[in-house]
Amino acid sequence: MGQERQESDGAARQVGFVFDGTHYRGRDNQPLAIALLAAGQRHLRDEPVRGEPRGAFCMMGICQDCVVIFEGRKVEACRLRIFEGLVAERAP
Ligand code: FES
Repeated sequence: MGQERQESDGAARQVGFVFDGTHYRGRDNQPLAIALLAAGQRHLRDEPVRGEPRGAFCMMGICQDCVVIFEGRKVEACRLRIFEGLVAERAP
């Protein structure tokens, strides 16, 4: 069995989280980048020089295009697992 916590009927539990002030729902323990993609949100940070929108690309913690702010630190959204009440912000 994978890392997702499952309810007795086999469906992954849904949790609520906030990204950049917007409330979303996703599957408990799902990577934040995946949960946001599933919700149609692809803009995770702004490229620092030109300010162009960036989003998840490699999905394995290498490209840094998915970096968001979580608990005051920059973290890769593809490696951050969501939970009920998670709050993250778009990185500048
Ligand atoms: S998508 Fe490349 S580091 Fe997250």
